[in-house]
Amino acid sequence: MQAKPVRTTDLKELKRRGEKIAMLTAYDATMARLLDRAGIDVLLVGDSLGMVVLGYDTTVPVTLDDMLHHTRIVVRGTERALVVADMPFLSYQVSTSEAVRNAGRLMKEGGAAAVKLEGGRAVIDVVKRLVDVGIPVMGHLGLLPQSVHQVGGFHKQATRPAEVERLLADAAALEAAGAFSIVLESIPSEVAKAATAHVSVPTIGIGAGPHCDGQVLVCSDMLGLFDDFVPPFVKQYARLADTIRDAGHAYIEDVRAGRFPEAGSPATAPGNKTRTA
Ligand code: KIV
Repeated sequence: MQAKPVRTTDLKELKRRGEKIAMLTAYDATMARLLDRAGIDVLLVGDSLGMVVLGYDTTVPVTLDDMLHHTRIVVRGTERALVVADMPFLSYQVSTSEAVRNAGRLMKEGGAAAVKLEGGRAVIDVVKRLVDVGIPVMGHLGLLPQSVHQVGGFHKQATRPAEVERLLADAAALEAAGAFSIVLESIPSEVAKAATAHVSVPTIGIGAGPHCDGQVLVCSDMLGLFDDFVPPFVKQYARLADTIRDAGHAYIEDVRAGRFPEAGSPATAPGNKTRTA
């Protein structure tokens, strides 16, 4: 029997019941299928795609076409989780009508159930309009990676009282505009706690301590797949980079030594699926 899909309204209900929300990023169908079957509540097709898959230094160069492509393939691998697609830099800031068109494409062509965009009161008219036309919006406050060149790096945010006030006002504005949830990135744990108490929609933290209504991590970080740099708040639940490197070495040695394929082993097993023609 197919599992009942997670809806945006289910997340609000989880907050009401005091149950935590588990969210991870995914960028392809295989990862989506594995994490979906593991029971993840939300799969975010994050624009972190730019850094962990496409090889950029920041999320800034990611395009709407990149997001559409990866959203489609994540959706194809997902049966139960709520799939949220990130709106990339400058896909929602130029005008409200462009934002509606782009968010609409992520839903209609990409198959996402909701979009996420960065910012508070600066983008509130866009959030209101998207919600008005039936597009569920997840907000994103604290460290805004699309503004990395403006803030001067991937630093902790809301460390001064004026910034904390601003963040709380932005969170309240997002809730009033109809956002169904808010990501809080790289802010002090006590500020995340205050923001979580300040709004009735669920907060999802990353580098924001344990008091949020849910947690999100970049899948490649928590799987130990992207190990060039491990953010201090990440817990590695596996070390897939080591596993892949070791498997790669073993395969290369086997091929070079003539140990693979073994003499007498079938080229393809009869009746089995094969990727070769
Ligand atoms: O793009 C992304 O992966 C994100 C998460 C870090 C929340 O926005």
